[in-house]
Amino acid sequence: HHIESALFVIFGATGDLARRKLFPALYNLSAEGILPSGVAIVGVGRRPFDLAYFREKFILPALLDNSRLAGNLLHNFSSFAQRCYYFSLDLRDSSRYRELKNFLDQLDWEWGVQGNRVFYLALAPELFGPVVANLKEQGFLDKGPRSWKRVLVEKPFGWDLDSARALNRELTQAFPEEDIYRIDHYLGKEMIQNIMVIRFANAFFEPVWNNKYIDHIQITSSEKIGVGERAAYYDRAGALRDMLQNHMLQLVALIAMEPPVGLDAQAIRLEKAKVFRSLQPFTRERILQDIVRGQYGPGYIDGEPVPGYREEAGIPADSVTETFLAVKLFVNTFRWAGVPFYLRTGKRLPAKVTEIIIQFKPLPEILYFKEYGELLPNVLVIRVQPLEGIFVQLNAKRPGTNNYIVPIRLDFCQNCGVGTNSPEAYERLLYDALRGDATLFTGWEEVEYAWKFVDPIAQAWATIPVHFPNYAAGEWGPPEARVLIERDGRRWWESPAYMMYPGP
Ligand code: BG6
Repeated sequence: HHIESALFVIFGATGDLARRKLFPALYNLSAEGILPSGVAIVGVGRRPFDLAYFREKFILPALLDNSRLAGNLLHNFSSFAQRCYYFSLDLRDSSRYRELKNFLDQLDWEWGVQGNRVFYLALAPELFGPVVANLKEQGFLDKGPRSWKRVLVEKPFGWDLDSARALNRELTQAFPEEDIYRIDHYLGKEMIQNIMVIRFANAFFEPVWNNKYIDHIQITSSEKIGVGERAAYYDRAGALRDMLQNHMLQLVALIAMEPPVGLDAQAIRLEKAKVFRSLQPFTRERILQDIVRGQYGPGYIDGEPVPGYREEAGIPADSVTETFLAVKLFVNTFRWAGVPFYLRTGKRLPAKVTEIIIQFKPLPEILYFKEYGELLPNVLVIRVQPLEGIFVQLNAKRPGTNNYIVPIRLDFCQNCGVGTNSPEAYERLLYDALRGDATLFTGWEEVEYAWKFVDPIAQAWATIPVHFPNYAAGEWGPPEARVLIERDGRRWWESPAYMMYPGP
């Protein structure tokens, strides 16, 4: 894969995502010399900005606020700004796409691009259909001899199976599957890319990575923030659609998948899709038993009072949207039969952390038992964020004249040192889309099976009354979340205090 020249066209260029993530990521790539000089960026938005205003009053502040390389901004901004253009367009007004096309063709000629395009839809999904239909009908996608056209789409990829299918139909009418890049930004995170390496490049994990040796898996992805300014979206989505359907299930797939036959996108998607297909479907009884949902009430985050979900701007006072979810699920394959996966995610929890815990089964208690001290289980923790690392818990003899056993911890932290500054997920993802590598994007089959798994849960919830709020902001969800795992004789993993990250 290598990048030639291209026009990177962002629909929704004045929106929140463009400001917080897309322009900063493109700028970082450019400042680090990774973005080839033949790539120009075209923002398309409804606001009537002129070019100077767009560059100085939109892009510049966006970078100042959000780029990890903002320190070098004075030095690098002007060369980045030279790459950026703006075109003002009401996306539902088909009559003006011609002008946009002429604008792009002109830039294409100036930049010597020869037809390559990335179209990034940073838009409400209702607009995907109209935009791609216009792109197709008005000749944006006509291919020259060696040029390519790709489309990048953000979540949410539908609200349920039906709407996801409808959305996919709209996209596939204009683009073949291999040119559709569905973003799940968790796949761009360093330690999530590392899961496959840890598993398939280390002799001491893969042979025991199965139900014979693994007791259970835990995945926690918690946030301190509340719903913020995304009330309209979030109140419709909830934690189930917002986090579980995509990010959390992707992590399950990477942990549970079989070794792929190769490292290409096709081979990896195939194995991940098999995991999604193997998820044990939830019956109504199991939904009541094995899933806990919660919604935060008023409480404290880092000692500061915060309002409850129903008091947040734009949230109905009787909302029954879940902001927390804990679930016990099973992957019904030969490798995983009988191994529970405990997942939890939520907003307004005590810490911002994403961690995957692989807990191994105890050995037979033949040689070392209680009198030697408490034998802790072997545990592998993959720490995704905010600290990135790998942590292994072993048992060993305490130095001394007694045979006393203590846990020892091998702790590798990749970003604890000062000065490490890993690329953000979006940098990797935008770069991969430009070079045509779809490995870290979600295939349609994965999306489809994820919705098949999630739909029955959402449908059952709609008919089961809940009493919200049921946890205070700053608690680890409702008490039932603890019961969910403790009734199986297990506990949610708590990282030792020294490993906790004090930041936001
Ligand atoms: C997004 C969700 O996909 O992921 C947000 O829509 C959530 O609700 C975010 O806050 C979390 O991402 P990260 O990278 O901060 O863990």
